[in-house]
Amino acid sequence: MSASLSQRSLQAVWHPCTQMQRAVHAPPLAMVRGEGPWLFDESGQRYFDTSSSWWVNLFGHADPGINAALKDQLDRLPHVMLAGCTHPPAVELAERLAQRTGNALGHCFFGSDGASAVEIALKMSFHYWRNSGLPNKQEFVCLRQSYHGETLGALAVTDIAVFRDAYDPLLLRTHLVMSPDARQAQPGETAADVARRAVAALRTLFEARAEHIAAIILEPLVQAATGMALYDPLYLREVRALCDAFEVLLIADEIAVGCGRTGTFFAFEQAALPGAAPIWPDLLCLSKGISGGYLPLSLVLSRPQLYAAFLDDDVARGFLHSHSYTGNALACRAALAVLDRFDQAAVLQTNRTRAAQLTAALAPLRDDARLEHLRQLGMIWAFDVREPFAGARFAERFHLAGRARELLIRPIGRTVYLMPPYVLDASLSDWLARQLRATLDDVLQPAHPGADRPSEPAVA
Ligand SMILES: Cc1ncc(COP(=O)(O)O)c(C=O)c1O
Repeated sequence: MSASLSQRSLQAVWHPCTQMQRAVHAPPLAMVRGEGPWLFDESGQRYFDTSSSWWVNLFGHADPGINAALKDQLDRLPHVMLAGCTHPPAVELAERLAQRTGNALGHCFFGSDGASAVEIALKMSFHYWRNSGLPNKQEFVCLRQSYHGETLGALAVTDIAVFRDAYDPLLLRTHLVMSPDARQAQPGETAADVARRAVAALRTLFEARAEHIAAIILEPLVQAATGMALYDPLYLREVRALCDAFEVLLIADEIAVGCGRTGTFFAFEQAALPGAAPIWPDLLCLSKGISGGYLPLSLVLSRPQLYAAFLDDDVARGFLHSHSYTGNALACRAALAVLDRFDQAAVLQTNRTRAAQLTAALAPLRDDARLEHLRQLGMIWAFDVREPFAGARFAERFHLAGRARELLIRPIGRTVYLMPPYVLDASLSDWLARQLRATLDDVLQPAHPGADRPSEPAVA
């Protein structure tokens, strides 16, 4: 009998984010087709894509609108290098994204995966200060529990031990400051109080060190890869003010939270108080959802003053960074189809209804004593399983049990989360909530006093 695709994959493919020795216990699902929120394996078995395939897919798999745009682009121009050339999808995409910031940000610099956008933003901030006559500003600040990707620069501003520790000797030294994660609230404290404590910690660092600091990088509103840690928008407002006061650039990594995931197109839109003038970061990184889950595309938007600091007769004062597939025409065209959807289909408004439906369907979880920190923002839902009920290898067991209930779901440590494509309706929400609760019942263990054991490392 010939080997299955899954077995061949274990022989031929080095899978990402996977201990390959362990992969035999959870062999890769051999997906051959996608339709809406569903993925279908070789045997025709369906799975609901609860994480939108690592948070990239917005409107479901094989969306007819994005498919049509790509087919059209395929016959026109699949790719051309972006140095010395340009093309309609790159220009239009850059213009339309800038418009979405009220032109506070622009000059879209294209990369490919999310991590390449983070590299670009880090290099740009350092180079900006160098061009501005402040070459000592070379250091970066990131938040505890942050995740910004796995290339060496991005990993240096990431604080997730399982990804980072092995490479620590190779990484830039960075400043780690308190996360505003609302789960740290002491009795009587609000999420805003936690955010204020985190702001105070950042102020202390800036007071001591700002003349050496080029930039702080953060994930607005949700630290996703650490386990969907939500925080109060006050933090963004206050960090913006501190960055202005201490001349430090602010990099917003919206790779996970952009494109409507938190309820606004950019998460940073929630930083300003309602009715107040909008505030923006100095650099904004976008990837994942922007191309609808079709093709690798990332980009960095910057403030006009920052861009201007690179203009000079001297070539070396320019930003000479490049990747071969920078601004790939197919990927940009997919992104335009995504923006068309936002413009034409009132996605953000409809998502509010979708979010209310799924939140209502998940309401019984609030009374489940085995769970804590139920949280939701926009199209993100998460809760943590209390340690005594999780048992060993919780994430793997939950994932496997989910498969048996038509769910493609990968907890992060003891955090179970849903980040579904924007295609839910009331009946899908009810179904999803039912399957999730059933999977919990399949997997959670009766609590044994003293059975607490450290969880396995949290891997997204
Ligand atoms: C906030 C954030 N930044 C950067 C990245 C890295 O993106 P990529 O995996 O496309 O390199 C991720 C990926 O999960 C992310 O969540």
